[in-house]
Amino acid sequence: LNKCMSFFYTVLCLHLFLYNLFIYSFTVFKFLVCTHLAIKHRWHCSVRSMSSAVRKRRALPSAFPVLDQPLKPIHQHVYEANLRNSSACLKKYTEFSEKVRKGGGENAIARHTQRNRKLLVRDRLRLLLDDEDFLELSPFAGLGLPYGDIPSAGCLTGIGRINGLWCVFIANDATVKGGTAYPITVKKQLRAQEIAIQNRLPCVYLVDSGGAFLPLQSEIFPDKNQGGRTFYNEAIMSAMKIPQVSVVCGSCTAGGAYVPTMAEEAVMVHRIGTIFLGGPPLVKAATGEEVTPEDLGGATLHAEVSGCVDHFAWEEKEAFASTRNIISTLNFQLPEEEETKRKAEEEPLYSSEELLGLAPKDYNYTIDVKLVVSRLTDGSRFQEFKARYGTTLVTGFAKIHGHLVGIVANNGELSYEAALKGSHFVQLCDQRDIPLLFLQNTAPSAARTLNTKQAEINTNRLKAQGSMMSAVACASVPKITVVIGGCHGADSYALCGRAFEPNFLFLWPNARVSVTAPGHAGSLLLPDGEQEEEQKKQEEKLNRRLKEESSAFFSSGRLWDDGVILPQDTRKVLRDSLEIIKQQQYQLSTEKAPSAVLRI
Ligand code: COA
Repeated sequence: LNKCMSFFYTVLCLHLFLYNLFIYSFTVFKFLVCTHLAIKHRWHCSVRSMSSAVRKRRALPSAFPVLDQPLKPIHQHVYEANLRNSSACLKKYTEFSEKVRKGGGENAIARHTQRNRKLLVRDRLRLLLDDEDFLELSPFAGLGLPYGDIPSAGCLTGIGRINGLWCVFIANDATVKGGTAYPITVKKQLRAQEIAIQNRLPCVYLVDSGGAFLPLQSEIFPDKNQGGRTFYNEAIMSAMKIPQVSVVCGSCTAGGAYVPTMAEEAVMVHRIGTIFLGGPPLVKAATGEEVTPEDLGGATLHAEVSGCVDHFAWEEKEAFASTRNIISTLNFQLPEEEETKRKAEEEPLYSSEELLGLAPKDYNYTIDVKLVVSRLTDGSRFQEFKARYGTTLVTGFAKIHGHLVGIVANNGELSYEAALKGSHFVQLCDQRDIPLLFLQNTAPSAARTLNTKQAEINTNRLKAQGSMMSAVACASVPKITVVIGGCHGADSYALCGRAFEPNFLFLWPNARVSVTAPGHAGSLLLPDGEQEEEQKKQEEKLNRRLKEESSAFFSSGRLWDDGVILPQDTRKVLRDSLEIIKQQQYQLSTEKAPSAVLRI
């Protein structure tokens, strides 16, 4: 019995011990979880209070070193050659700008303004936007295409302020073939929408379009990034709380009819705007009935009967005033101090006009890129990073109109060391949430592998460049690329070329864009001793083609960039781009669950 009792007692003690151990561990576990949650909550609170206080705080004071980069006699020969090249490019730039401003030509302008009593697209923008310059995107898109010159791709796009708020506008130019959509028009509209999505900018559509340009329908309609994508994007953006507003100031026929119908809010002008899938000629052909455009799909019908539009305007001026009021209802709160901040900014020590002589004519006419940097940054100041390592890439911090940026600039071939430095610096900026500015001027040709030593160098370079490309692709900070010279080969990817999705990509007029630079076609052809003469001919032919197809205007005509900008305007364009990118911080209602505004 005693043995039984002691066994029973031992089992009981063991049970009690295990039970206590369990309770104790559970209490400790609960304590740890609660502490962790409390710390997490406090951290979140402090982050939140930090971000709400951020606007009231000032940036850390900086006294970055001044770049002492005056022009020296040694630069004179190269500077003058570059200057002559820049003048030739400027002439072409002016010629293209004039061509674009004429839209569809005199007859079309007369038909538009006198017969159709409509305002020209630039006059509409003057009424819509604040009284200041706007950032026009790809104005030369559509020039020099296989199917002809389509001025402004038949549609002006850009970013301008409405009541102080940066908005993307997409405005048809009906003097260009009735505002119909060519393949390049669709591409331009989609790029403007992409910019709106990436930077969370409200969109305003000024619609005046005959729908698809029918002779090229197969290149406009069926594929993913064609016609319907514009409407798809409108829905997606609305769901993302990126406002979509439309003004019907002309014909919205067929596909064009969906732009106002998919918008969150639409304004329509009496006797000028029409919305229908098929116009009066189609009605006559189908039913024999004669009907006026106004009765079939005018502002009265859509404001009073169909409900397709929300605001009726007697004339265009009223429609744009109404649109400005709509923008005022968007839930943004802009900072007040911007004007005073601008006044306090330091200008660079050197004239921006000197950039015309620093814009390289070709790779042999490149001067140290720090001369360019010193003509772009506030007070010509630059906090260089790893100044003595991988010197063919210049990296460092600077301010542009008060905005802190990380600059990555080519200063020769992107060597192994340069690429390692580049990926280190890009990750640093990503870590600190600092926007990146790439000044691209890449080496002309692909590296050749003629011996083992060279093979080893090339392999190492390849690995380092791959690592830099990864760093650039994965960096979640805003990126702006300005091609100041060459944009060739793999180096251009590492310097955030178009495929790496920079928020904006601009070209200087002297820029050249091609897989290898003109004059370097030999590096693409395999040596063939027996067919030397034939190969020479092939090389010359290829070089001619590279020259023809690599100009900045050829690139911009095809919309491989966001526009050609003049070197002396670069600082202003960068200021606007950085302000535009920053604006999303001031939107108040982004946290609600995604849902598009459905009209009906
Ligand atoms: N595809 C190709 N060309 C078109 C076009 C289209 N969908 N719509 C208009 N055009 C051309 C016209 O042929 C004309 O070319 P031209 O200057 O070389 O003569 C030019 O665009 C201007 O058209 P016009 O009709 O003279 O101008 P308008 O100001 O009087 O009218 C429209 C403009 C858009 C209202 C009218 O042309 C129209 O209703 N077009 C048909 C729209 C349509 O049915 N689209 C269906 C697309 S799926």
